[in-house]
Amino acid sequence: MSLQEVLIDELRDLYSAENQLVKALPKAIRGISDPTMKANVKEHLEQTKGQVLRLREVFQQLGKKPTGQHCSGMEGCIKEVTEALEKDEEGALKDAGILGASLRVEHYEIAGYTASIAIAKVLKQKEIVDLLTETLNEEKNAAKNVLSGAPAILKQAASQEDEDEDEDEKPKSPKEKETEQKSEQDEQEAAPEMEGSSESTGKKPSSR
Ligand SMILES: [Fe+2]
Repeated sequence: MSLQEVLIDELRDLYSAENQLVKALPKAIRGISDPTMKANVKEHLEQTKGQVLRLREVFQQLGKKPTGQHCSGMEGCIKEVTEALEKDEEGALKDAGILGASLRVEHYEIAGYTASIAIAKVLKQKEIVDLLTETLNEEKNAAKNVLSGAPAILKQAASQEDEDEDEDEKPKSPKEKETEQKSEQDEQEAAPEMEGSSESTGKKPSSR
């Protein structure tokens, strides 16, 4: 395998990720209550369509087809957005959950474009570097927008929490039960490696 092939794999992964987002974002937009956040995600959906087209341009330059690799990471990120959307919460409290999931999506994309740009630079493919950098800047901006809208949403969510306090004892849905079980399994499977780690800091115990 050559480095050029590694780049193509990375780009195909991103192409799949962007297409998955084009499909998933309209549902997220419908689920968001905060008007600013809704408008930002709407804008980012249009931007994402442009990013799909930009990647097609990159593949045209490379003389390769853009499909060939499914992005499992984005599938997972979108699953978390969907989980946040399906939570039995409303308004700002639901938005607060979507906020974290959206930020994960953006940072996942930022990581993918950053890695691809680094490879394209080494391969001296300047035009591709430029195209990918345009998208990277859009992703960084989108992440910034998520964060700048967060304080207002979180403040509202905090007051909403008080009103909903007596809902603590709600029965868990099958999905919530499944995710709870899986998280317990995660902890159990890490346990052998965690043995001997300090309780409070997670640092390795001193060798004294
Ligand atoms: Fe994107």
